[in-house]
Amino acid sequence: MPETATAIIAPPLPTVWPQFGQPLQLGVMASGNGSNLEAIAQAIHRGDLHAEIRAVIYNNPGAKVADRARRLGLPTVLLNHRQYPSREALDKEIVETLRRHGVEWVIMAGWMRCVTSVLIDAFPRQVLNIHPSLLPSFPGLRAVDQALAAGVKLAGCTVHHVELAVDSGPVIMQAAVPVEPDDSTETLQARIQQQEHVIYPAAIALAAIA
Ligand code: GRF
Repeated sequence: MPETATAIIAPPLPTVWPQFGQPLQLGVMASGNGSNLEAIAQAIHRGDLHAEIRAVIYNNPGAKVADRARRLGLPTVLLNHRQYPSREALDKEIVETLRRHGVEWVIMAGWMRCVTSVLIDAFPRQVLNIHPSLLPSFPGLRAVDQALAAGVKLAGCTVHHVELAVDSGPVIMQAAVPVEPDDSTETLQARIQQQEHVIYPAAIALAAIA
């Protein structure tokens, strides 16, 4: 189990991760770096998360997540939002792509687009997102900067079910980390991301048994 000494995680990490039944069929949606994709893939590889990543959808040509996915041997699909007339049209294509790959659980991991009811209704309660704040504090863009500007002493990350309003929806798991007096955006973000990589795989398992 990964090191969690600097973080408070609620609910606590499971000591025994559910391994019964068929593996969870995951589809990951990402726009940029893809470190959460990699953390989820590693948790699966370690045997901590009983799941398979069926497809990685990304929307920005050249995004690093696509290189990571290919290195991990995962199927990638580029759906460039710029080529769709509306958010709904993009989401319709996403739903079709996910279904074609046999996906049951939609894992948004740095997907920088608002999603619509077209996606949410196609996978009821099975669309998850991770956000770099202790929601409901600091939803939206630049959450880490928002936390620094507010002067909070605890920051963190949240895995939640996706609903229509941005960064809303029932919370599945959170991790809190200290904000140090000399933190920059980069240092705090790195501390938060370390915990994202711990809680996202665990939260997927938790959501699946709930
Ligand atoms: C994470 O900080 C996540 O909380 C936010 O986007 C970032 C994605 O990071 N939604 P990565 O692409 O997984 O490295």
